[in-house]
Amino acid sequence: MIPISRIVHALEPSATLAMAAKAKELKGSGKKVYDLSVGEPDFITPQHIRDAAVVAMNAGHTKYTLASGIPELKNAIAARYNADYGADHGADHGAVEYGAGHVVVANGAKHALHNAFFATLDPGDEVIIPAPYWVSYAELVKLSGAVPVIVPTEENTGFKMTAAQFRAAITPKTKMLLLCSPSNPTGTMYSGEELGALADIVLEKDLFVVADEIYGKLVYPGNTFVSFPTLRPGLMDRTIVINGVSKTYAMTGWRIGWTLAPLHLSKKMGELQSQETSNPCSISQYAALTALTGDQGCVSEMLAEFTRRRDFVSERIKSIDGLSCPEMAGAFYAFFNVRKYLGRKLGGVQIDTSEQFCLELLTRKCVATVMGSSFGCEGYVRASFATDMDTLKEAFDKIEEFLKS
Ligand SMILES: Cc1ncc(COP(=O)(O)O)c(C=O)c1O
Repeated sequence: MIPISRIVHALEPSATLAMAAKAKELKGSGKKVYDLSVGEPDFITPQHIRDAAVVAMNAGHTKYTLASGIPELKNAIAARYNADYGADHGADHGAVEYGAGHVVVANGAKHALHNAFFATLDPGDEVIIPAPYWVSYAELVKLSGAVPVIVPTEENTGFKMTAAQFRAAITPKTKMLLLCSPSNPTGTMYSGEELGALADIVLEKDLFVVADEIYGKLVYPGNTFVSFPTLRPGLMDRTIVINGVSKTYAMTGWRIGWTLAPLHLSKKMGELQSQETSNPCSISQYAALTALTGDQGCVSEMLAEFTRRRDFVSERIKSIDGLSCPEMAGAFYAFFNVRKYLGRKLGGVQIDTSEQFCLELLTRKCVATVMGSSFGCEGYVRASFATDMDTLKEAFDKIEEFLKS
C-alpha cells in the first residue's frame, strides 16, 4: 500500500463539505432535503458577469496568464479596495493604498489562504485563531507545518476575542493572528474599536495578521465594516488581506480569490503559485474583472435578500424554546446554542454532542446543518441562510418539531 504522508494523514476533511455530501446522498435516495449546511449563495452568478465570461472565451482568453493573475484584474482589485477603504475614507483610514503589485489572484480565497500560510509560516510557528473558526483555518495552518493556537470565545461577547484573551495567548513562538470578520460561522463582526485594540497588540508584539475579509461586502444595515490594514499606520506592512468573488457575487464555482499583501511577499506568493498551480482560470479572471468593475447593483440586491432572511432566521431562533444566537452583523450564517438539548433524549435517541444532534436532525427531519464542534465550539450548530425563504421556513419548522420530539 502506498503510504500517506504524516502531514496529510493528520488532515481532517472539511465538515461542511462532508455534511453537504450526506445531504446530497439523502436527496439521491429520493428524499426532500432542507440544506442549510453549505456557505454558498443560492443565486446564479449575475447575467452581466456570465456574459463577460462568454465574451472572454470567444475573444480567445483561453490560455495561460501570468501566474499571479492578469494585470487588469490585479489593478481592479487594488482600485476597488482603495475606493472602498482607502485614502478618501476619513482621518482614520488615510494610510492604505494598494497597487497591482500587492495582489496575487488565486484559485479561490481558500487557495489564497494556503498561499499566505505556506509563504510565511515555518514549522513550529504559532498562529492564534479565535474559536469558533471557519473549518479550514486550522487544517491549512497545520499543512504548512505551523501550530494553530485556538482561543475559545463566548456567545455573550459575540464570539469575539478580547484584547486580554489575545495577549494571554501570545508566546515567544507566536507569529500570526488570523481574523475573520464578519465571521463564518457566527455572523458577528468586530467593531473598529475592538479591532484597534487587537491591532495595538499586533504592533507592540511585532506580529503579523491574516485578515479574512471575504464577507466584508455582506454586512447588514446598521453595521460598519472596517478593513484591518486601515486601522493604524504600519499595519499594511503586517497584514495579508484575503478576499474573493465567491460570496459577494455568487461566484463560488468560478474559483477566484486573492491576497493583498506587502510587495516582497506578493512576489514570493506569485512564485509559489507558479510552481503549484500556475494561473487561476483565465476565463474566470475576466468574469471577476467585470464583477469588480461593473454595476454593483447586484451586490445590493443580494444583500437585501440576505437581510430579509437574516431577520427571519434570527426571529425563528429567538422564538424556539432554549435556542439562542448572537445578532448577525454580516455573512449568512446563524450559529445557535443547542446546549439545552444535549445530554438528553430527542425522539427516544440520546443526544450528547452537536455532531449527534446534526446527524439525527438530518436523518430524521432531512435538515442539513453543521455541528459546532467542527468550528472548535461544542454545544452549537451552524445554519447557513444562503438558501431560499421557503426552504428556510420549512427547515425551521422541522427543527422545532425535532426539538419537541
Ligand atoms: C471565511 C471564509 N474564508 C474563505 C472561504 C473560501 O472561499 P472561496 O470559495 O473563495 O475559496 C470561505 C468559504 O466558505 C469562508 O467562509
